[in-house]
Amino acid sequence: MGLTIGVDIGGTKIAAGVVDQDGTVINQVKVPTPEDASVAVEAIAEVVQEVRGDREIEAVGLGAPGYVDSGRSKVIFAPNIYWRDEPLKAKTEAATGLPVVVENDANCAAWGEFRFGAGSMYDDVLCITLGTGIGGGIILDRRLHRGRFGVAGEIGHMNMEPGGKLCGCGKYGCWEQYGSGSALRRFGREFAAAHPDRAKALVERGDGTADSVRAFHVTQAAAAGDTASLEILGVWATWVGQGLADLATLFDPAAFILGGGVSESGELVLAPIRRAFREALPGGDERPVAEVLPATMGQIAGIVGAADLARIK
Ligand code: BGC
Ligand code: NA
Ligand code: ZN
Repeated sequence: MGLTIGVDIGGTKIAAGVVDQDGTVINQVKVPTPEDASVAVEAIAEVVQEVRGDREIEAVGLGAPGYVDSGRSKVIFAPNIYWRDEPLKAKTEAATGLPVVVENDANCAAWGEFRFGAGSMYDDVLCITLGTGIGGGIILDRRLHRGRFGVAGEIGHMNMEPGGKLCGCGKYGCWEQYGSGSALRRFGREFAAAHPDRAKALVERGDGTADSVRAFHVTQAAAAGDTASLEILGVWATWVGQGLADLATLFDPAAFILGGGVSESGELVLAPIRRAFREALPGGDERPVAEVLPATMGQIAGIVGAADLARIK
């Protein structure tokens, strides 16, 4: 009863699931994201039809990696894939015949974690996804905070370094250029290029060149005790911690829930982030400090959150 479909539209794959009212995924389908963003809508519609089968479905929630309008119908702007003013709701409704709502991908993951995962004991919680970019979902007083235009929580584009690295959004120095999974990869590559002698254990995890370094190589080498990789991780964690401190200053949440690829490494990654967060936090030693916790729903957070948000008018 009361089934909805949630779709998580990522840079590499589109994952869809039929979800019940308790957040249980009943059926799931994944397809690769088409290279050409203009055919992505067709792929989304196909994956919805496939996962649906002959079940009765109330609504579909699409989690998209970009700025979504307050009417939950369009992707206004997507920094890391080419979507500008994309009418996802209208197109997907036409292709599937089902009612569709569009949501930001990180809002969906946040809602999933808040309703059914690591955020469920808190009224005020910020969920942050560290992946290709940095996504944010702000839950205040048990409600998803969307802002006047629907685009609150675009925290990956807070400026951390005026005139810094060019971001996919067109500005320079955004947080996601320093604290995302992609940024960890870049720090690893830069380090390996600058200090080939110290980076031997790291580059060996790829094909031996600096350019083959991936984010998970850094975390794996760090877990094995490689000092260079621990140092790279520390630099990256400092940027993540600084962003959390700024967000704590602004929103004063009870907890931050960290999701996305890199946070799957657990304490290895969380401990230096926590340390950097505390050090960056203004207000003296007596101020209360929010928890920094790992997401617990893994890859299905976005699907479950999108499906659940599709029920809420
Ligand atoms: C986008 C967000 C998205 C995040 C994670 C950012 O670059 O601006 O809309 O939530 O990446 O995909
Ligand atoms: Na968001
Ligand atoms: Zn940006």
